Amino acid sequence: MSRKVIILCGSPHKEGNTNTVAGWVAQGARGKGAEVEVIDAVALKYKVGGCVGCMGCQNSKEFRCVIDDEAGPIIARLPEADVLAFATPVYFYGPTAHLKRFIDRMFSLFKFSPDGKVRQAFHKTRVALIATAAGGLDDGLSLTEQLFRKIAAFSGKEMQSLLVPNAEGADKEELRRKAVAFGESLARV
Ligand SMILES: Cc1cc2nc3c(=O)[nH]c(=O)nc-3n(C[C@H](O)[C@H](O)[C@H](O)COP(=O)(O)O)c2cc1C
Repeated sequence: MSRKVIILCGSPHKEGNTNTVAGWVAQGARGKGAEVEVIDAVALKYKVGGCVGCMGCQNSKEFRCVIDDEAGPIIARLPEADVLAFATPVYFYGPTAHLKRFIDRMFSLFKFSPDGKVRQAFHKTRVALIATAAGGLDDGLSLTEQLFRKIAAFSGKEMQSLLVPNAEGADKEELRRKAVAFGESLARV
């Protein structure tokens, strides 16, 4: 069976650096037989600016966000993916707010008990990161990667990342090759 890769894009620039690189990654993964779904987290219609901490998800048996908008059903099916790749430009040392408001609602895919135990909807999903930045690694890319490593730690699996520093001046052909190879590696994990 082919591997399912979901790429969740958080850049407001449809044809910007991040979506371009994410497109090459998708191409690489598809080329190795993966089923790839690219979701534009910016374009979804949200009822809220982010998680409102209502705890509706924690008080429910289901692993789903109780807020009824376009993001809710997408979040609920993320655990079907073999690979969940977040794609974001670095905005002030972290992911964009567009992506973060989606991520916070992924709280609904975990049940946190007072005794510290955590149950989760993810059983097979590996996390990956695609991040572009104008600066170098120390200008926000490394911090962004650190954040996603924390999220990925829940999966118990090593995170794969494709970091693109100095994206504005990058050699596009070299970057394309790197991104396609990264996509191919996602189809293999
Ligand atoms: C609001 C804003 C904040 C940014 N903050 C950073 C930053 O902290 N570090 C960095 O290296 N680049 C930063 N950048 C540059 C972008 O990360 C970089 O140009 C990125 O490749 C843009 O991707 P896009 O074309 O997908 O929007 C910022 C850009 C914007 C618009």
